[in-house]
Amino acid sequence: MGNPLRTAQDRRLPRIPEPCALVIFGVTGDLSRKKLIPAVYDLANRGLLPPGFVVVGFARADWGGEGDFESLAYAAAKKGARTPWREDVWQRLNSQFHFVPGSFDDDGDFDKLAETLDDLRERNGITGNTAFYFSIPPAAFPLVLNQLNRTGLADNAKLGGWRRVVVEKPFGHDYASAVSLNELVDDVFNPQDVYRIDHYLGKETVQNILALRFANSLFEPVWNSKYVDSVQITMAEDVGIGTRAAFYDASGAARDVLQNHLLQLLALVGMEEPTSFDPQEVRAEKLKVLKAISLPADISKGSVRGQYLPGWVAGERAPGYLEEANIPPDSKTETYAAVRLGIQNRRWAGVPFYVRVGKRMPRRVTEIAILFKQAPHLPFDPADVEMLGHNQLVIRVQPDEGVVLKFGSKVPGTAMEVRDIAMDFQYGEAFTESSPEAYERLVLDVLIGDRTLFPDAAEVEQSWRVIDPLEAAWAGTTPEPYRSGEWGPRASDEMLAREGRAWRRA
Ligand code: BG6
Repeated sequence: MGNPLRTAQDRRLPRIPEPCALVIFGVTGDLSRKKLIPAVYDLANRGLLPPGFVVVGFARADWGGEGDFESLAYAAAKKGARTPWREDVWQRLNSQFHFVPGSFDDDGDFDKLAETLDDLRERNGITGNTAFYFSIPPAAFPLVLNQLNRTGLADNAKLGGWRRVVVEKPFGHDYASAVSLNELVDDVFNPQDVYRIDHYLGKETVQNILALRFANSLFEPVWNSKYVDSVQITMAEDVGIGTRAAFYDASGAARDVLQNHLLQLLALVGMEEPTSFDPQEVRAEKLKVLKAISLPADISKGSVRGQYLPGWVAGERAPGYLEEANIPPDSKTETYAAVRLGIQNRRWAGVPFYVRVGKRMPRRVTEIAILFKQAPHLPFDPADVEMLGHNQLVIRVQPDEGVVLKFGSKVPGTAMEVRDIAMDFQYGEAFTESSPEAYERLVLDVLIGDRTLFPDAAEVEQSWRVIDPLEAAWAGTTPEPYRSGEWGPRASDEMLAREGRAWRRA
């Protein structure tokens, strides 16, 4: 992806942003500690940050001042860094980290933020270039946007340079709230300065879907309903909800990841070839797929929601969802969701896209499996092809990043016995370059101003149009139980069995 006008040689040169400031709202939160601070360190370590670069963290002051922030940032960077730890890099970066304690409803705190930024800009030769990262609950967005407006911090004309805003998912809670949120953000920032994060798009393996499909001639001829039986998209996590009880219980699996990560994967698998990798062209093709998605005629039969019970994951006892801290004992929030989607166009008519997502599953795996139809005729003794399944192309998003092609092959010996074998491409073996972490790539793209890997407002709104009817049909229903460490509720296996299929054991 990226600007097609840049030459291949240009593209390999490191892209370094102009001097700028990155303001992180919610800098002491989970996402910032686990992903953003380590991403900034990794960028510094790779030499990809400009000399005049500063980070200003803004969060409640509960835990103290600059000193405490310094140790928090140090611990976060050291724990999450993907590149080797270098104390000298951290020391230099540390002097560029600043903390402004405050709350979102306090004008004085935002005035202090504005003063701090003014001062840092002057000292570091930064014009107005500032990216504001909203690593905060969606309910706080309006407050912060109003503050940025009031203080003039978002005002391009006033300061010169650029102003960008980065908004974490979930973007809204449903279609209507996403539309209002888009309006609200667009009131304060130019639409082309809004970066909606879906970190799945920052993953190498996800970007590789486009390379696999459109750089090769091998797959495209069979990439349609004539040859494809069905598609399975799985996002399984072995972890539970961690410390995000309040957010998770109000969202559930469908809003948390189905609406964004999984529909984006589906769009990349289902889309037509874009005329170029210009961001608008790619988005236009994805949007067409999102618009063509259909839900099952009977949602109660074509979808399953589940909730984990206590159990065992990787040899350790895991509590049930209702035993997790701060979860109401009668919560009906789903931690597992599976749905049979369709894409109503000529390429995909009749091909089911089974999509599932779950927490506390046996292991962490995200993959897309394209299951091909069986050969129309098998000139073999039926006993010789008993072990022959569907040909499959499996895109392993994570872990063990790569692509596997499964097909039948003759078992050595005198009989014509055929059995499934796998041809395996693994990133780790095929390339010496290591992939940057998704957030590292995306933070750099924001600072450079490359919007290719960020979904636009229309995609986000359209994805809610898929999820809203599902949520409406599920309202008031009780999720199906599954034990922690199982592959979801039995009803989910039954859903596929009714159609003569089974989930791939990922
Ligand atoms: C986030 C979800 O977007 O993605 C989390 O909110 C989930 O619930 C996480 O755990 C998974 O990300 P990854 O990159 O580990 O697959």
